[in-house]
Amino acid sequence: MAKVTFEPSGKKINVSSGISVLEAANNAGVGIDAPCGGKGTCGKCKVYLNQGTLGEVTASERKVFSAGDIEKGARLACRATIQGDCIIDVPKESLLGEQKILVDGAEYPVEIDPLVKVFSVTLPKPTLEDNACDWHRLQDALAEQTDYDSIDMDISTLRTLPKIIRDHKYTISVTMYRNRVLAVGDPSLDGVYGAAVDIGTTTMVAYVMDLVSGKIIGVGSMMNPQIPYGDDLMARISYSFKEENLEKLSKLVVDGVNKIINEGCEKAGIEMSSLSEVTIVGNTAMHHIFLRLYPKYLSLAPYCPAVQQPLDLRASDVPININPVGNVHMLPVVAGFVGSDHLGVILSCDIHKSSEMTLAIDVGTNGEIVLGNKDGMVCCSAAAGPALEGSTIKYGMRAADGAIENVNISRGSLNVKYKTIGGSKPLGICGSGIIDVVAEMLKSAVIDVTGKIRERLEDENDRVREGDHGYEFVLEWARKTKIKKDIVITSNDLREIQLAKSAMYAGASILMSHKGITAKDIDRVLIAGAFGNYIDVENAMTIGLFPEVPLDKVKSVGNAAGTGARMSLISGVKREEEREILEKLRYIELATHDTFQDEFVSAMNLPHKDISLFSETMKKVYAPIPVKNNR
Ligand code: FES
Repeated sequence: MAKVTFEPSGKKINVSSGISVLEAANNAGVGIDAPCGGKGTCGKCKVYLNQGTLGEVTASERKVFSAGDIEKGARLACRATIQGDCIIDVPKESLLGEQKILVDGAEYPVEIDPLVKVFSVTLPKPTLEDNACDWHRLQDALAEQTDYDSIDMDISTLRTLPKIIRDHKYTISVTMYRNRVLAVGDPSLDGVYGAAVDIGTTTMVAYVMDLVSGKIIGVGSMMNPQIPYGDDLMARISYSFKEENLEKLSKLVVDGVNKIINEGCEKAGIEMSSLSEVTIVGNTAMHHIFLRLYPKYLSLAPYCPAVQQPLDLRASDVPININPVGNVHMLPVVAGFVGSDHLGVILSCDIHKSSEMTLAIDVGTNGEIVLGNKDGMVCCSAAAGPALEGSTIKYGMRAADGAIENVNISRGSLNVKYKTIGGSKPLGICGSGIIDVVAEMLKSAVIDVTGKIRERLEDENDRVREGDHGYEFVLEWARKTKIKKDIVITSNDLREIQLAKSAMYAGASILMSHKGITAKDIDRVLIAGAFGNYIDVENAMTIGLFPEVPLDKVKSVGNAAGTGARMSLISGVKREEEREILEKLRYIELATHDTFQDEFVSAMNLPHKDISLFSETMKKVYAPIPVKNNR
């Protein structure tokens, strides 16, 4: 055994020799960012050996670090192995930051009519002449108030029935999910509750709701506890190839869901065991891992999910710690990379009921896009990669404290103004900042339309300079950053962003061609998720993240996936519409699509074709900009 101490937290742990520093850190509760899931490719899990010995420096580490860095003790936590007692320094930029969690979603009116209902029933008292069993008398009484031909009751509920009936003088309340009795009890105690949960790859939110009023009465949220096993879905899927790892990730997310529902219940002042139903949305990988369904085949062509249909499970079978016979409803998934979270977006924004031609996008490693209306919808998943979430960007980071979230660059002087989350000195740049910085570099002529940095541009602050891997732009100088290093945008970062946005744009273009329409026919563009909530829409359109439409047609809908789960919880009609959506929705596989490659390549340039849609500021992007010495 070896004793490992992590600084500056001072957390200690005894571990077996040979395990990675990352695993030791996870076990010690030290959150080290590991976007690539420990494959040694992202370089974000940097630590320093302060005392002791670690295993030999690996080839991946030599690729990431200079000889000078290695000399100073720099190591990749996921590659370096524990060989004996040691002290490891974890720099701030390698620590997992708490991401801003988006809770709000756009509200659309819905009639409150949940599938969980409470009936007040009065049973005829048994007599010697009529001594039918309690269960039969309850069934007869319920038959007068419901349309169910048969009624089910779990043995644990049946055990409580005789006493409850008599304690309450033959008038009791019966809580039912469809034809299943969930609880029998005191009729004077009202209140029927449930929770809607959105399991995101990065964050998770639970909304505890009063199913009578349809109101949210408590919210719980947390970072997805699977993050130390990889930022993106592919890393988590690959990790789950081994049965025991799948079990580990599944337990982490199930425990996490229990924790956030309980947090919401505590805020609402109710017991979690009093909840009757939970509805859950998530992308297909999260859905599968939550249910411990082997996710390997999601990552292999033809990317087939284990199940697509909606599922209704007994809470104790999952296990979710609400009423053990309560219902856990998993909204249906659409395809291997279009999950129930996207179906939740369609459900909550009424795309399947609307006559407006709607384009809805959820930007992520796999950007989910749907286009259509009540007459039919097409959807796809664009493999944008993790650039827009910061993972493959040199100073990219999640949207946590210290992340640059918006940027403005003055034309001419190239002075940079920015805002960080939490207002502290910058640690790096997150998705919304990345969109801004590329658009601003374009507007201020730092880059041309191909995304190339104009190396001969002269600026008074020498922000454009030659770096280790080509030209780069200095966003902030080391003396003003928390990491004591210049925060730069490199030529490689720009390339990564162009690849990501081209994938998104090409996906939308292909959907438009399937519907036989152009951008002019789109009535509304909805941007879902945290990314959509924080980005500057005009800047996103400037770089070509989605098709050119007038800005007033673009709307952020916040956590629309979570809103979909909430609607499904409080409305039986919306629950039925889940199947209607599946019937109206056609999934288009981009990987094998004939025109994807062409669309992708033609979307690589940054600006748009139709600038008349832009504001006056944006139109100036196309005006000739005085560039000194630009030969
Ligand atoms: S390089 Fe270690 S987690 Fe990515």
